[in-house]
Amino acid sequence: MKKRVGVIGCGWAGLLHLEAYQDCPNAEIAAVCDTDSAAAEHAQARYGAKASQDFKAMLEAEPLDVVSICTGPDTHYEISRACLERQLAIFCEKPLTRSVKEAQALVRLANERQVPFGVNFNSRFSAPYQKAKQWVKGDRVHYISVTLFEHVPLKPSLNVREEFLVTDGACHLFDLMRFLNGEIVEIYATLAKRGLDIWSDINVHCRFENGSSGTLVVNFAGGELESQHPIERAEIVTDRKRIVVDNICERVTMFPHARENREVWEPSVFQRQDYQATILESVRAWMRSVAEKSAPPVGITDGARAVTLCQAILDSHRTHGPIKLTS
Ligand SMILES: NC(=O)c1ccc[n+]([C@@H]2O[C@H](COP(=O)([O-])OP(=O)(O)OC[C@H]3O[C@@H](n4cnc5c(N)ncnc54)[C@H](O)[C@@H]3O)[C@@H](O)[C@H]2O)c1
Repeated sequence: MKKRVGVIGCGWAGLLHLEAYQDCPNAEIAAVCDTDSAAAEHAQARYGAKASQDFKAMLEAEPLDVVSICTGPDTHYEISRACLERQLAIFCEKPLTRSVKEAQALVRLANERQVPFGVNFNSRFSAPYQKAKQWVKGDRVHYISVTLFEHVPLKPSLNVREEFLVTDGACHLFDLMRFLNGEIVEIYATLAKRGLDIWSDINVHCRFENGSSGTLVVNFAGGELESQHPIERAEIVTDRKRIVVDNICERVTMFPHARENREVWEPSVFQRQDYQATILESVRAWMRSVAEKSAPPVGITDGARAVTLCQAILDSHRTHGPIKLTS
């Protein structure tokens, strides 16, 4: 039987979730909600679902099985709680919450209620990152670095606080590093402002549970120009090879230590390979897990870990010291 899906927040991310649910054989888009009536009506017209401007009214009126939370991060905690109270399966956009305390409270409640709870860390679903993960398997990792060159809002606003690039940008990179190389157990961070009112340049040294090390960098270089050049680069060095992933979904290159030639893998031209496609694939994988009653591909504990690691960046910067984390 098809699962009745509701999507809360019908902006950039919400419309992508809706596009993905429309393709899922086990999903029926039953309801959409946005405080902005134009956004709600747009989604209603496109997907033929009942529209609402108040998520509580939507939950009250509609018998749903699954909810996607695609509102701004400040609202994730309240909306997640309300959905958990109703035992709904939840797929929440990143970051899970604004604070570690809220993230931990949601983990406890989700465990109590035995509710499937996924978090959208879509980089894991880029074909080159999946290929890199295959190539790393069985190797001993020495080092991993991920750098995001991001265009960012230049000024703080209602939705953009001073720590925006930490909480909303670095969280993706932490999740990706954990996906490729396991748990991070210690970090040391420095932050800089380069002509902006928000932390624009983030440098984080990471120590992994498996003994390897890494760096996470979010860099504003060129950001004011809305550069269309690659926005992300990842490099993994193992005992057998070096692997470079260009621009999230473009290409992965392997440089084996023992051979002169390199191996390049790029997605087929017949495959959609833009950033949005990683979100579509992430939502589809989530719905497959709901159908199969298996654990979500990226679960609430992954979401909570990213919140904890992002808070550790801010704590490390404030105390000018390393932060150890229990795994
Ligand atoms: N995974 C990714 O790569 C990615 C990319 C962009 C955004 N996001 C995340 O997606 C979420 C939404 O971001 P966006 O870029 O789509 O923002 P957006 O502003 O385009 O859309 C958010 C929508 O939520 C609505 N909204 C706000 N509060 C609401 C409430 N209480 N009830 C119902 N609707 C409400 C707004 O009116 C707006 O239409 C954020 O958590 C963001 O971090 C993820």
